[in-house]
Amino acid sequence: MYKVHCLNNISEKGLALLSSDYELTDDVSDADVILVRSANIHDMEFSDKLKAVARAGAGVNNIPLEALAERGVPVFNTPGANANAVKELVLCALLLAARDVVGGAAWCRENAGDENIAKSAEKAKKQFAGTEILGKTLGVIGLGAIGRLVIPAAEALGMKTVGYDPFLDADRAASISPNLRFTDDLLDLCASCDYITIHVPATPSTKGMIGEAEIAAMKDGAAFLNFSRDTLVDNTAMRAGLESGKVRRYVTDFATPEVMAMEGALVLPHLGASTAEAEENCAEMAVREVMDYLETGTKTHCVNMK
Ligand code: MLT
Repeated sequence: MYKVHCLNNISEKGLALLSSDYELTDDVSDADVILVRSANIHDMEFSDKLKAVARAGAGVNNIPLEALAERGVPVFNTPGANANAVKELVLCALLLAARDVVGGAAWCRENAGDENIAKSAEKAKKQFAGTEILGKTLGVIGLGAIGRLVIPAAEALGMKTVGYDPFLDADRAASISPNLRFTDDLLDLCASCDYITIHVPATPSTKGMIGEAEIAAMKDGAAFLNFSRDTLVDNTAMRAGLESGKVRRYVTDFATPEVMAMEGALVLPHLGASTAEAEENCAEMAVREVMDYLETGTKTHCVNMK
């Protein structure tokens, strides 16, 4: 009997796939398997019983990959399983960056007691006016599972697209959309886009990849969307970009004290993958990967061992 410990809420739909050879345990030190979502387990002590860790999601920066590999414990992730959820929130963020929906809704709530709110609203609305995304250019940094869904969706809304990915070339990028302009130069992407969205993993080499040079290269008044990880953006450079007006809006899914102090940052509490569908998809994929490994030795989407 394999014992499975869930460090975060893992969808029941995924857990229901566990056969009678598995049971859930509340005791992590007794677990053969850990299922985790966003909990940071870098400082966790692992028991000698532990045989596999699965991340219900794509990012694995919350898991000590090398230390687990040294103990012979594979770590699995679920690339693509929540990509549609993130894509949909990126589309929402594009519109939130273009129109002051958040400011307008807050104004209505603040004026809830005004008997003449309908009249007052007509006067107030000019301060929340925005622009349209039709005809504007969206730059997509990282053309993996999420980036390649964002591109055709943005094009369907009338946007032009530019893509950058150091692991792809123009031929392979062409399969994403015939209308995509691929560039192998990040500064070129920054210089040519009205909106930029980033979809790359958080690794030592991507830390601060959006810094002073990238922000300086951006069009005046560009909007930047971050639904990947906080560490990709250099906070000092972004803060300066927002203060000078170079960056009009920074929409980020990662609430940190640094971004909360930035005027012009629209901050969400890591909602990208928080849909019922994505949570189910990720849990199902993670459970299948673990069972496959324990029962057949197959390592599908293992991120720390061959
Ligand atoms: C991911 O890395 O796929 C997301 O951060 C998943 C999540 O929100 O748990």
